[in-house]
Amino acid sequence: MPSVRSLLALGLLVTPAVFASPVPQGNGNDNGCKNGQGNGLSKKCTSTSSSTSRSTSTSFSTSQSTSTSTSTSRSTAVTPTPTTPSSTSAAPSTTVAPTSISSTSAVSSTPSPSSTAPSSSGFKLLTPTKTATTGPLASATGMADAAVAIGKYFGTAADIPGTGAASDPYYLAGLNNIHNFNQITPANIMKWQYLEPQQNVFDFTGADQFVALAKTNQKIIRCHTLNWYQQLPNWLSNPATPWTNETLMDVLVNHIDQVMGHFGDSCYAWDVVNEVFNDDATATWRDTIWYRTSGPSFVSVAFRAANAAKAKYGLKTKLYYNDYNIEYLYPKSNMAQQLVANLTTQGINVDGVGLQSHFANTFTPSLSSQQQNMAAFTALKNAKGVNIEVAVTELDVRVPDTGSLFAPSASVTAAIQNQQVQFYWNTVNACATTAGCVGVTVWDFVDTYSWIPSTFAGTGFGDLYYQPGGANSPLVGKAAIDAIIDGFQNVQPGTYA
Ligand code: XIL
Repeated sequence: MPSVRSLLALGLLVTPAVFASPVPQGNGNDNGCKNGQGNGLSKKCTSTSSSTSRSTSTSFSTSQSTSTSTSTSRSTAVTPTPTTPSSTSAAPSTTVAPTSISSTSAVSSTPSPSSTAPSSSGFKLLTPTKTATTGPLASATGMADAAVAIGKYFGTAADIPGTGAASDPYYLAGLNNIHNFNQITPANIMKWQYLEPQQNVFDFTGADQFVALAKTNQKIIRCHTLNWYQQLPNWLSNPATPWTNETLMDVLVNHIDQVMGHFGDSCYAWDVVNEVFNDDATATWRDTIWYRTSGPSFVSVAFRAANAAKAKYGLKTKLYYNDYNIEYLYPKSNMAQQLVANLTTQGINVDGVGLQSHFANTFTPSLSSQQQNMAAFTALKNAKGVNIEVAVTELDVRVPDTGSLFAPSASVTAAIQNQQVQFYWNTVNACATTAGCVGVTVWDFVDTYSWIPSTFAGTGFGDLYYQPGGANSPLVGKAAIDAIIDGFQNVQPGTYA
């Protein structure tokens, strides 16, 4: 692990900035592996390497196990319970929210009474008190239930298969609970390095397992991502013969055609293009292999190819642009709006924009800024004359935390937890009160498996649950869960109290 000093020297450490300035400082989101080089902080930022630590030959269990492992290391290799997925086909499925929801088997846990005493700042829960987290919540209204009640979805990213999460029965039970999550996004397994590890040699093994689990559990699937600058296979980022615009665009079009054709309408939406702009206030184009080789036109090539694949395979899947620091009123958000407008002018269809929403307790936009921003995007018409939709695609709210992965350190004060609760509520409520916002996805839901601590040094506790007993032990829900339910239910804009 690089030292804090070396990270600072490399400009890789996030400098907390209070969101009081009209010019935010950026969320430091790209410090995972800038320009595809990787910074060594995250084991999966292997964009310049064709090697992968992931096993795609193992299945993940969809059933409860009685594992008593007390492993506390996230990077410890685990052996997922081999099972046969019920289906490995990618047959088109309906993309609407399930009308009948079934509860999955709950891991036995002893619910502790939720605190009902409001804190001095008015929040319902000050400290995490729920443990009944894998079955329906005590109220019988989960986060997805609350979203579905107003015609939206609530979901999570999951970094499965081939990871510790994939064999953690408590994680899986939480994930599979349709009351809390009726949507899912693959955190990694549909990225280029996994799907096309050698040129024109596709490996859908792991991604098919992901899709099978999602379908078994009635999830809407957001597919992520067809064009990004990170997590590329070595043959693409370090070609033997340098790419020309023509050869690279052929590679891009072929990838999009093959991948979209394979998954069909299993995907409610595809993040067609991810993160093309820098974080500075002028929002310039990011220096990537795509931009260096082809200039900005790679974006229109990608969306043209995605639209062509939709027509060729007769798909309904929605085509999204996805980015961060576009979740609030900010120049980069204007750039993203301009991008959509430019594609529309060229007759190229874009269906939606994904607002990633990787926030920190020190850097989180207000409810009103997020609402105004969503309004600006959803006012845009696409090439079909239809208003584009937005989705919150990667929400998490990290806080200063130098403790263990499994429990908050002393730095996670009650005041900080209250900020986190409020910020989750703000983003969910912005979506709930915006007609064109279709749903909210958190970027994984258990701290044990979060990308945050390994990417943003000195921060953590950013997800909705934690495991005080370590991996493969019961989940404890945080107060933010109540805030999310309230955020969907309280569709009169206000504050969470
Ligand atoms: C992250 C994954 O969560 C990590 O496991 C991986 O090491 C790097 O990528 N924006 C995105 C996601 O669009 O694909 C990123 O996911 C997080 C930032």
